[in-house]
Amino acid sequence: MGMAGESQNWVLMVTAQTPTNIAVIKYWGKRDESLILPVNDSISVTLDPDHLCTTTTVAVSSSFQQDRMWLNGKEIPLSGGRYQNCLREIRNRASDVEDKKQGIRITKEDWGKLHLHIASYNNFPTAAGLASSAAGFACLVFALAKLMNVKEDESKLSAIARQGSGSACRSLYGGFVKWKMGREEDGNDSLAVQLVNEEHWDDLFIIIAVVSSRQKETSSTTGMRESVQTSLLLQHRAKEVVPKRILQMEEAIRNRDFASFAQLTCADSNQFHAVCLDTSPPIFYMNDTSHRIISIIEKWNRSEETPQVAYTFDAGPNAVLIARNRKTAASLIQRLLYYFPPNTDDLSSYIIGDKSILQDAGL
Ligand code: ADP
Ligand code: DP6
Ligand code: CO
Repeated sequence: MGMAGESQNWVLMVTAQTPTNIAVIKYWGKRDESLILPVNDSISVTLDPDHLCTTTTVAVSSSFQQDRMWLNGKEIPLSGGRYQNCLREIRNRASDVEDKKQGIRITKEDWGKLHLHIASYNNFPTAAGLASSAAGFACLVFALAKLMNVKEDESKLSAIARQGSGSACRSLYGGFVKWKMGREEDGNDSLAVQLVNEEHWDDLFIIIAVVSSRQKETSSTTGMRESVQTSLLLQHRAKEVVPKRILQMEEAIRNRDFASFAQLTCADSNQFHAVCLDTSPPIFYMNDTSHRIISIIEKWNRSEETPQVAYTFDAGPNAVLIARNRKTAASLIQRLLYYFPPNTDDLSSYIIGDKSILQDAGL
């Protein structure tokens, strides 16, 4: 380390922040569990980094005795294969790092021997169906790559983040992102590509209605494993439905065609939850409040010339509502407040997002 006999009193750290992403064409099912290779392509939108995001600090010091990690202030075991896979892939690609201020130089070989401390914090509910694993693993991989001076582009990092949590590979880019399922056995071509950046369709406005911030009973990993094993609808969806939808969704995004976008987004969310119901034993991620939100949006969209809001629900009861523009978003908030008056138990908090929308809604 060029540090033998020197003070142990040094620490090098990097902090990164990564937004979460919400799929509009869902990933649900793996063809390879350990590499995390999916049964179909998926498309997501990355949220604004100011609102739902993970902040992760990774630190290295010769005084650390073992790799350790804290999630939201609580220590969690790093023994899981997913964390180990990400750590190994990044360590294998580490380069020399020099810190002149502290007078240290860490070589490629040192990285294999030094231990890490990792502290991560989600500013939104963890394991509640708002894609915490996506923001979490993308941030972890990004922060580690920075610390260890890894010279790989985003697409390679996305393939590494994929091995932490599938949906994480899509969080390394902004805008609309596609995760290509890939064909190769080693998974090297199963990675994310940016379809368009965040400026392409910037009048969309996303509101998240938090129905419950409780941790879900069935993790995404377990849920999709059971669906792959038992749902015939999943097979049909992966082979016949999603490939066509991906093409239509790409076109809708390219043309900023909100009517097609909303139709595809809602249909895909509903089919994903139908697959959950088709799983044995059935999985219920949505609850009565989620169902009421769907009915309210469907009724609203049908009463207008063209759809105003798209809804999508991940593996949890919380609604992600995509309004065609800010004006529609303000009207959406008014409707939510009408149907779910504050201080009732149905909706614990209406939005995690740009709070200035409340002024537009006259609140
Ligand atoms: P979600 O719908 O929130 O993505 P999942 O069941 O897919 O729920 O994943 C939740 C798991 O992801 C957590 O139990 C934890 O293991 C991991 N995770 C969540 N946030 C982070 C984070 N910031 N850093 C590392 N891992 C995280
Ligand atoms: C419903 O990426 O959380 O949010 O790969 O097992 O970690 P693992 O699962 P995860 O699954 C996400 C499922 C989803 C849809 C999506 O994000 O595409
Ligand atoms: Co997840």
